[in-house]
Amino acid sequence: FKVRVPNNEPIYGYKPGSVEKLELRQTLSQLKEEIIEIPLIIGGKEIKTGNIREVKIPHNHKHILARYHVAGDKELEMAIEASHQAKEAWIKLDWHDRAAVFLKAAELLKGPWRAAINAATMLGQSKTVFQAEIDSACELIDFLRYNTYYMNEIYTDQPNSIVTEWNRLEYRPLDGFVLAITPFNFTSIGANLPTAPAMLGNTVIWKPSNNAVYSNYIFMRVLKEAGLPDGVINFVPSNGADVDRVLIGHKDLAGIHFTGSSRVFEGIWKSVGENISKYRSFPRIVGETGGKDFIFAHNSSDIDALAVAIIRGSFEFQGQKCSAASRAYVPKSIWEELKGKLNEQLSEIKVGDVENFTNFVGAVIDKKAFDKVTSYIDYAKKSDEAEIFWGGTYDDSVGYFIDPTIILTTNPKFKTMEEEIFGPVITIYLYDDKDLESTLKLCDETSPYGLTGAIFAQDREALAMMQKVLYFSAGNFYINDKPTGAVVGQQPFGGGRKSGTNDKAGSKLNLLRWVNVRNIKENF
Ligand code: ALA
Repeated sequence: FKVRVPNNEPIYGYKPGSVEKLELRQTLSQLKEEIIEIPLIIGGKEIKTGNIREVKIPHNHKHILARYHVAGDKELEMAIEASHQAKEAWIKLDWHDRAAVFLKAAELLKGPWRAAINAATMLGQSKTVFQAEIDSACELIDFLRYNTYYMNEIYTDQPNSIVTEWNRLEYRPLDGFVLAITPFNFTSIGANLPTAPAMLGNTVIWKPSNNAVYSNYIFMRVLKEAGLPDGVINFVPSNGADVDRVLIGHKDLAGIHFTGSSRVFEGIWKSVGENISKYRSFPRIVGETGGKDFIFAHNSSDIDALAVAIIRGSFEFQGQKCSAASRAYVPKSIWEELKGKLNEQLSEIKVGDVENFTNFVGAVIDKKAFDKVTSYIDYAKKSDEAEIFWGGTYDDSVGYFIDPTIILTTNPKFKTMEEEIFGPVITIYLYDDKDLESTLKLCDETSPYGLTGAIFAQDREALAMMQKVLYFSAGNFYINDKPTGAVVGQQPFGGGRKSGTNDKAGSKLNLLRWVNVRNIKENF
């Protein structure tokens, strides 16, 4: 019996007149016609609390897409109970049977549910058709398939035994429940954080982001259809403070799988610290957090490729990727040529409603994000140390639209070079070619994060030196490519420093955090 290495799910083209485009268009219309009600799902039961919030379309914020119920203390406690009850039977299932549930979910997403999950991601999170397809179809399918493949590698990894004894490793799940707290920006990450621990026999309580409840609920329906037993993953949209008190404060907490801001993650560590003597075991804490991701260009760069990387790396999905490029270091000698190429390509970019498939940039996720991002743009406009090279305009009358913005600064430690903005804004600092090494050091020291980064050069010696100076600056490091778009099975994803615990999503390294291994030695 051998598990085959999966292939990455191919991306649909959504060409004019294609069947998949027609189906997606119909699904978008259907989802917009009906305001659905999203319940909690605890122990397989749909629960309505009556504490209701609205899901609005970011690019058309007067349009209500859905209403969802919010869990209170009682429901969070019910979720803990449901996760306990489900665990016994879930552990007893042979791992092949557990894996089969997730492989079946991948097949459902590939076929019958693809249009629905993509449409939900486009409407609920304002992703363009390609950003949705890459995320909620391909990457999600890849996570499910690759993680089941890694399960095989884990379970079959056994120690040596001598003739008169037998050593074996039993890959038990963690002793308690796992809490998954997930972000709005990737439906696939939303789905990966609860499913990865569940594959290894854990039962999970899933707190989705308020801004991704819609697509995340669709994924829960896919899991149900795929045969996931009741209570293995319990879906509880809820408030952070309640999750902190009831779930993180619970003695049976065994692990946390988190993606979100560094600030919230620090709060989680502190809270775990305060509760530490309560727990049965030391909780595993796995987190992927913020970034201030860079593009660093050498004067031997391929300038066409550099321009594309700046634009795609910074502006796809409105810069709302933890991996998005948000600062760049460009040698003065190539700026004139790069400027021309940026102008040329940026003038082609269209911003607007993502239901128009030709728009490249949609809306940012909500009013809070809009206000935050635009405050950085306004700050730059007023500063003597910066100028707006491109964009700088915004409008939230219909949707939360911010035009792709490039700030040029004379100060390498300018506020927008240092702080995470999480919007379609990149700041460029032009350095003297002779200051290459000191500017690399500056790049390394300027931000507390270490998530992604890209270097551009054709000169091999320069590339080697740049990699060395930037040794700890990124967990996902790209050479002559944009710093976004890690592919499951090809570029395991995560960063160090203030960007998280670097337990590489979509790899065996991540799955190993969800097992609690027993070694059994038997003498004969
Ligand atoms: N995995 C996502 C990317 O690489 C965050 O862009």
